[in-house]
Amino acid sequence: MDYITLNNGRKVPMCGIGTFLMQPDAAEEAVCNALMCGYRLIDTANAYLNERACGRGMRRSGVAREDIYLSTKLWPSVYADADNAIDQTLARLDTDYVDLLFLHQPAGDYIGAYRAMERAVKAGKVRALGLSNFEIPQIREVLDACEIAPAFLQVEAHPYFPQTELKAFLQPLGSVIMAWYPLGHGDKNLVNEPVFTALARKYGKSNAQIILRWHTQVGNVVIPGSTNPAHIRDNIDIFDFTLTDAEMAEIAQVDSGRRYYEAKPEMLEGYLQFAPDFDDQP
Ligand SMILES: NC(=O)c1ccc[n+]([C@@H]2O[C@H](COP(=O)([O-])OP(=O)(O)OC[C@H]3O[C@@H](n4cnc5c(N)ncnc54)[C@H](OP(=O)(O)O)[C@@H]3O)[C@@H](O)[C@H]2O)c1
Repeated sequence: MDYITLNNGRKVPMCGIGTFLMQPDAAEEAVCNALMCGYRLIDTANAYLNERACGRGMRRSGVAREDIYLSTKLWPSVYADADNAIDQTLARLDTDYVDLLFLHQPAGDYIGAYRAMERAVKAGKVRALGLSNFEIPQIREVLDACEIAPAFLQVEAHPYFPQTELKAFLQPLGSVIMAWYPLGHGDKNLVNEPVFTALARKYGKSNAQIILRWHTQVGNVVIPGSTNPAHIRDNIDIFDFTLTDAEMAEIAQVDSGRRYYEAKPEMLEGYLQFAPDFDDQP
């Protein structure tokens, strides 16, 4: 495993497991399985409705809580009552603290919610803060209003959309990209790009492993989602080879500026309307 050192001095594993779209049983199984394979970074969110299950998976794995880097996200519908929402999130995960807490979307009173997350850091409930799906002007707004710089930006990033502009903006802040859709959500067009097939053959790896290694070599932390035990095992087995500068440059040619998801203002309004009872989950 490679690690990256954050702007708060903490070392974080560069590869973890994501749990988006996983039903509770599947999330529990995937988290437990991943931890038993050597993963130490877990990413979930209020909105995935599987936080309790992730907590169960962590406990079932037998891995000590302090050895796990646990990341979750507040959904916009709880921003107005973020202090309570943080306590409820911790209760669902059955833990006293999370290592990383994100604002999931730039909707609603995100400045007020960020301030609540800063209070939670001071209270020892949260170790580091992050923003997810925020664009540069919104990140600037948070930086101007708040005390603690975000350690992570969790955004869509993959070889088709490597987030070059955002990376340059974050570099002086020491904030790191945590890539969502690191494998393009499994898009076969991306995974089967000829450059990955050629490099997979050279290194005796799969195309997905080449993509994940590219991410870590450009400094991204990755959280590929998988419920498939073979994929879970493979996705962390990427640190025993290094792509050359020439190979990294070749992969850079795949950048097409294509992202799979782009938030429109009306979507942000919709996010505020999505307000299930987050405690209502097995
Ligand atoms: N902040 C946000 O708004 C946001 C949005 C989306 C996602 N996320 C986070 O980012 C994580 C990753 O995103 P994602 O899971 O949607 O997409 P992803 O990791 O790019 O792709 C997941 C897909 O790829 C397949 N896959 C995984 N490993 C593979 C391998 N080695 N070979 C071939 N196929 C493989 C998985 O299927 P199998 O199950 O069959 O392996 C699944 O269909 C999420 O789980 C979540 O934690 C955050």
